[in-house]
Amino acid sequence: MSDLWSLVENDMHLVETWLCERLDSPIGRIPEVGTHLLGAGGKRLRPLLAVLAARAGGHDVAHGVAVGCAAELIHTATLFHDDVVDGGSVRRGRPAARMIYGNGLAVLVGDFCLARGLELVASAGSITMVRSLATTVTEMAEGEVAQLESAGNPDATIASYLQVVDRKTASLMAWCARVGGVLPPQLDGPLGRYGRALGRAFQIVDDILDCTVGESTTGKSGGRDLQEGKLTLPVLLACDGEPGLRSRIRDALGETGIAAETAHALLLAVRAAGGVERARKRSVAFADDAIAELATLPASPYRNALAELARLSVDRVA
Ligand code: IPE
Ligand code: IPE
Ligand code: MG
Ligand code: MG
Repeated sequence: MSDLWSLVENDMHLVETWLCERLDSPIGRIPEVGTHLLGAGGKRLRPLLAVLAARAGGHDVAHGVAVGCAAELIHTATLFHDDVVDGGSVRRGRPAARMIYGNGLAVLVGDFCLARGLELVASAGSITMVRSLATTVTEMAEGEVAQLESAGNPDATIASYLQVVDRKTASLMAWCARVGGVLPPQLDGPLGRYGRALGRAFQIVDDILDCTVGESTTGKSGGRDLQEGKLTLPVLLACDGEPGLRSRIRDALGETGIAAETAHALLLAVRAAGGVERARKRSVAFADDAIAELATLPASPYRNALAELARLSVDRVA
């Protein structure tokens, strides 16, 4: 990661400066709550994608920085909101903003971050970027709503799971990899598909981590998905191989999801049925698909770094 980072270090410093500036507001609570989350770090994967893609495509890197910075602000907004929706209590190794400031401030400062992201893109002066971002944010909202709707459904399918993933996670990554849609078609197509496949691989690993490792590794609440009645890919693949498991999940599901202890026991069964291993294979396959899309890009260290980013996305513990 450090090699990859050093390749675009200056661009990433600029991203950090802009992020900080965009939190400014005469309403002091806003920078306070905003910094609680933005200042806690995070992998900054989306800005990395955008600046690497801009450089790999030989495009003006200022657009990459603007897209990356806007994407990180929008991602931040979704994390504020996501912890309210999912009842997450830890984020980036800190108490989730809602635990300190309450749901109201977490939602509203999330809205502020979203607005600042939109403002930043608008000021970059490209209507293409603004339009493609509007489509992306629409998709993300659809994904979150679809996921909430299907929580608690014991008949969830892999197809419906992937539809949610494509919207809530892969759409923003694809927007970054496309540098907001400003690249010529011969780059936009492959980089968009690269971002989509990377997004799938990334979210599958996030879902694997939720059901396999603890909070101290990921810096965020773990084991929540099944407790909330969300059937993620490891669970769905385990059910495919062992239909009795789906009946157990159906029986365990109550009004508010699945009790922690029961969910824990079910996750052990998911592992025993090979669900985690099979999900990992799927994530590697999506990362490989992402890397294959880079073949038509001109050879450069930036193209190699994009491939490396896809590998790291599946080979991570946080
Ligand atoms: C978390 O994203 C939300 C998902 C899409 C899985 P990241 O794993 O990129 O979160 P940070 O920014 O590094 O905290
Ligand atoms: C990711 O969903 C949030 C968005 C992309 C909007 P998750 O709920 O799976 O993310 P984490 O695991 O809490 O970070
Ligand atoms: Mg969550
Ligand atoms: Mg969520």
